[in-house]
Amino acid sequence: MTPTTTDAPPEPLRFSFLTLFPELLLPFAQEAILGKAAARNLIDVQLVNLRDFAQNKHLKVDDTPYGGGAGMVIRVDVAERALASLPPADEVILFSPAGPPFTQAMAEELAGKRHLAFLCGRYEGFDARAETLVTRELSIGDFVMMGGEAAAACVLEAVARLRPGVLGDPQSHQMDSFSSGLLDYPEYTRPPEWRGHAVPEVLRGGNHAAVAAWRREQALARTLARRPDLLARTSLTPQDSAALLALGAGDEQLAAWGAPPPPAPKRRRSRSKR
Ligand SMILES: C[S@@+](CC[C@H](N)C(=O)[O-])C[C@H]1O[C@@H](n2cnc3c(N)ncnc32)[C@H](O)[C@@H]1O
Repeated sequence: MTPTTTDAPPEPLRFSFLTLFPELLLPFAQEAILGKAAARNLIDVQLVNLRDFAQNKHLKVDDTPYGGGAGMVIRVDVAERALASLPPADEVILFSPAGPPFTQAMAEELAGKRHLAFLCGRYEGFDARAETLVTRELSIGDFVMMGGEAAAACVLEAVARLRPGVLGDPQSHQMDSFSSGLLDYPEYTRPPEWRGHAVPEVLRGGNHAAVAAWRREQALARTLARRPDLLARTSLTPQDSAALLALGAGDEQLAAWGAPPPPAPKRRRSRSKR
């Protein structure tokens, strides 16, 4: 029988890192689950040294900023030559504190691509004209690091784990924080009692429906207490609305989150007189 296209193993998702310090990213490519995923051809990590594209005998990739000021700026022509050496990429991502913050939704989108190229800055970053070479900029938070390698490693970790086959249990990421729209529920393992803190009884009872209900309520409680902003982006059920009200949320908050009304209280059947 001729194999259909769906029988073919999926192409590995290729990650190309353009960096002045490729060795910083080696452990992420070679160790732990990502190392195994690379060995199983689920991902393909290429490290490209920007210095190889310097075209001068001192291998200088940077220069002083026009207009003066501290620090050095990475040349746009170096970035251009390095990118031109790659097979076509679906996305070329420039890491920069000025980019939009990276989110789980972006990780899900990027996990569906075939080739992602990451431009990792150093010093004062790239010449601003490098923005014309990329499909998007990304920040990993409102703080400034010394280089883009740690940011690129974060995105590699977040994206690669969403590729089929990378995690042992394909469902395991679906309940993670943000994937379900909520923060994750708390997890426990042995010992059942530790320094006066017991594992909640419901988790030891073996009642799967009760465990699922408890976990949903805990996820709602954590999200309400720590990241109520997420609730506006979550699809909530009438049962969730009831749980949120019981947890102290107000009717106005529920309306602002677009939550459906809680289920109507069950009416007691009045016994008919005989
Ligand atoms: C010292 S930073 C440059 C900071 C830049 N002068 C500014 O203030 O926006 C050097 C490089 O680190 C990376 N970087 C630093 N913080 C980052 C963040 N929060 N998210 C993504 N990349 C970051 C970028 O690639 C950046 O080009």
